[in-house]
Amino acid sequence: MKTNRCYCITLIRNYLLALGLTVLLPAAHAQVNADAAKTLATKHLCLACHQLEGKLVGPAYRDVANKYRGVPDAQAKLIAKIKKGGQGVWGQVPMPPMYVPDENLKTIVAWILGSAAPVTVASAPVVAKK
Ligand code: HEC
Repeated sequence: MKTNRCYCITLIRNYLLALGLTVLLPAAHAQVNADAAKTLATKHLCLACHQLEGKLVGPAYRDVANKYRGVPDAQAKLIAKIKKGGQGVWGQVPMPPMYVPDENLKTIVAWILGSAAPVTVASAPVVAKK
């Protein structure tokens, strides 16, 4: 009797563990960078003027990502632009120079550039290798 109950509890525990691992881990993994980047973008006031979808004071990050898709050195160029500020690429409203540590800018810009609309299958780079 006693061993049976223990066995049952172990089974349930293992089941819950497995469920937790399969359901939570991949989701958590995919979320980490975006969450960290969004937290930084909020902290450094980027999201006061930008949002992912839709123009605010500055362009939507998804539009930025689409514009620079495939542009070499886009990340470095955008980091330099954010630090210096500037206008004229998206309109006449200027972005002020933003004083943000490089490490944080790298994370934020990687997130911005990664937010491009999904590419169509035809133009997607072929990465599948076995
Ligand atoms: C006061 C409002 C404001 C804030 C705060 C702001 N931006 Fe901007 N941002 C703008 C405007 C306006 C533009 C468009 C500039 C242009 O047309 O050249 C822009 C453009 C950009 C671009 C595209 C640059 C290009 O040349 O295509 C990126 C990337 C960007 N911002 C990221 C950021 C990040 C990251 C932060 C936070 C560290 C930030 N912005 C904070 C207003 C802002």
